[in-house]
Amino acid sequence: MSDHIRIIEMGPRDGLQNEKTQISVEARIAFVEALVAAGLNTVEVGAFVSPKAIPQMASSDAVLRGVSHVRDAEFHVLVPNEKGYETARAAGAQVVSVFAAASEGFSRANINCSVAESIERFKPVLARAKADGVRVRGYISCVLGCPFDGEIKPKAVADLAVTLWDLGCYQISLGDTIGAGTPRKARQMLRAVGAELPVANLAMHFHDTYGQALANLYAGMEEGVRVIDSAAGGLGGCPYAPGATGNVATEDVVYMLEGMGVSTGVDMDRLLAATNEVAGLLGRPPVSRVASALNAKKQRVS
Ligand code: HMG
Ligand code: MG
Repeated sequence: MSDHIRIIEMGPRDGLQNEKTQISVEARIAFVEALVAAGLNTVEVGAFVSPKAIPQMASSDAVLRGVSHVRDAEFHVLVPNEKGYETARAAGAQVVSVFAAASEGFSRANINCSVAESIERFKPVLARAKADGVRVRGYISCVLGCPFDGEIKPKAVADLAVTLWDLGCYQISLGDTIGAGTPRKARQMLRAVGAELPVANLAMHFHDTYGQALANLYAGMEEGVRVIDSAAGGLGGCPYAPGATGNVATEDVVYMLEGMGVSTGVDMDRLLAATNEVAGLLGRPPVSRVASALNAKKQRVS
């Protein structure tokens, strides 16, 4: 397991989208810059969704434009439909992410359409992206359980993953949106998807609601998955997944990986500074266990 792991930083999107306090475009840009400076060179910076649905992600075009000067980094944005794609492209997007769900209940709550309708909405996005030379990542939500429909079968996840792959997504990010999974379930789900698609093209996007995310990531790494989505400080969650908390914290992932001898290229001090800055603006301490431990240690020393 000592080969390279790619971390895709979610803080500015999945993180901030579910925070009660909205922070300014300038602060969002500074957050992205600080994350890249900490060595997180792939960052999801915003979402081109309805600002009525997710006001926290309004002005994602200004954020994307505002970070365009940052070199040696790859910025991702969410797009639910062609309208979002157009706005994202006008702001310079090179990588976009479409997002589907493994359950009808979550699809309806999140994007107001069935799973099949969402695929129809993605088709023109993928066609235009192909013509424009834009890469498209595909998310699947609720891969380990749905807040509305309950249990999700690994086969349902695998079938949808194949659909997104066949449409042209270069990577499928498997979302435990409500953080309800446990390692055995995560392993079964990843095996089912890995039986259909190259494991090298899968990513794990695990929320940490029940404190299982690191264990689930470890199980997935044992299955050969090498891409991890995480959010600085463990920020956020999905507004349409009742009770769900943020993604696994980047600090916790980096600490675990470095402890296993897997080099991440992330400067923990700089990452912690970026997290603390945003936590200050949001008015709450980071939920990351590692960030809390390091902050407490700093206080003891000073
Ligand atoms: P809809 O109501 O079905 O769509 O919403 P519509 O086409 O009828 O449009 C309704 C209104 O939205 C119109 O505005 C459109 O112009 C506008 P109005 O006439 O009412 O003023 N609209 C848009 N505005 C900006 N950008 C767009 C866009 N499209 C339509 N792209 C829609 C469908 C998807 C837009 C809506 O339901 C929505 O925005 N939902 C938010 C979904 C969201 O962002 N969820 C959180 C992110 S997903 C997530 O967190 C999970 C993930 O992390 C993985 C995991 O953890 O599992 C990815
Ligand atoms: Mg998520």
